Amino acid sequence: MKLTVNGRPAEVDVPGGTSLVEVLREHLHLRGTKIGCGTGRCGACTVRLGDRTVASCLLPVALAEGEEITTVEGLAAPDGPPHPVQAAMIACHGVQCGACTPGMVVTLATYLDAEPAPDADGVRHALTGNLCRCTGYHTIVDAAMTAAQEGHP
Ligand code: FES
Ligand code: FES
Repeated sequence: MKLTVNGRPAEVDVPGGTSLVEVLREHLHLRGTKIGCGTGRCGACTVRLGDRTVASCLLPVALAEGEEITTVEGLAAPDGPPHPVQAAMIACHGVQCGACTPGMVVTLATYLDAEPAPDADGVRHALTGNLCRCTGYHTIVDAAMTAAQEGHP
């Protein structure tokens, strides 16, 4: 399989039915993407495919060929500051155990690209596929609003 991950070409020798999250974590060593449920219900494994988000535990890697795959590691420049959503998650205490955080960040960054001036209800709606058992969501919504107000690129 020939892939493009975080702007770089990557090649992996796996069956096409291998889940994208397994390829990312076990073959490309991009462990930022988490596995929670493994069945498409928690959002921990969310990555960006082009300009949309997908549950990478459900996606056969063959369907990601030819697409621009972006993981949480690829949202910010390697030597630059964190992505505004990452910075806001820290500032607003949107992270507790962190298991949901990479998926939350990818979802919010993608959402704010499409909706740079959201309201809180819109953010909550955008997060319906991302579960968090720790925070109660308020701080995560605050982080999204903060990132938006501070000029999400
Ligand atoms: S691990 Fe993919 S949705 Fe839960
Ligand atoms: S911070 Fe623990 S699941 Fe969200």
